[in-house]
Amino acid sequence: MKSETLVLDQEQSFIPSNHTGWNYALVLAALSIKRTCRTYLEVGVHTGASMTRISTDVAIGVDPGFALNIDVTQGKKAVHLYRTTSDDFFSNQQICDPIRGKVDLAFLDGLHVFEFLLRDFYNTERLCNSRSLIALHDCLPLNEAMIQRTNALAVEQGMNTPFPFVWTGDVWKIIPILRRYRPDLRLVFVETPPPLASCLLLIWVTLLMCSAKIISI
Ligand SMILES: C[S@@+](CC[C@H](N)C(=O)[O-])C[C@H]1O[C@@H](n2cnc3c(N)ncnc32)[C@H](O)[C@@H]1O
Repeated sequence: MKSETLVLDQEQSFIPSNHTGWNYALVLAALSIKRTCRTYLEVGVHTGASMTRISTDVAIGVDPGFALNIDVTQGKKAVHLYRTTSDDFFSNQQICDPIRGKVDLAFLDGLHVFEFLLRDFYNTERLCNSRSLIALHDCLPLNEAMIQRTNALAVEQGMNTPFPFVWTGDVWKIIPILRRYRPDLRLVFVETPPPLASCLLLIWVTLLMCSAKIISI
């Protein structure tokens, strides 16, 4: 796949009607291989559909409401699952101290409310090293209905739109926030198509440099 098909113009200012490209879980899976991931962290694991595809020595999953229906241990030596909120997980020093500086790839896909994602981001960054990559989900919504701050409101307002039952929440706000307050970070937008009824887009936040190379898979 050519990298151009994945990378959106970072200055793009219009709202597309849909997204194309690779499925986001496949992008994550390819990145885990390409970057020889040793430690992977996923906030918001749900069924495990993304985690199962990741190649890594150690996978750590956090979710207060796991609904696993797949073997997430595939391609891994160890999997640690924590049935709790991300705030609770990150505040547990006994769990976090041993992995500080070790997280190579993180996927933040928990509660779709921007202040939660922002906390998840900063807390994750503390566990990262100088070549880590943090992927954020749902940051480029396609209409107003899906950006509501509750799932119920998004479902109600999205009924007669091309994307019913889609809730990205207002996590898109993290883009202007990071651009304003963290110019040291490089944000890379990766277009991914809707799985099921959803429309999705990833943002890669590299803590070093690179990104364009990373997605030339
Ligand atoms: C969209 S699903 C995750 C999908 C999964 N990442 C994947 O790609 O297959 C969101 C998950 O976030 C979890 N969640 C909700 N609030 C959370 C919180 N405060 N901390 C961590 N996870 C949370 C939900 O239980 C749900 O399973």
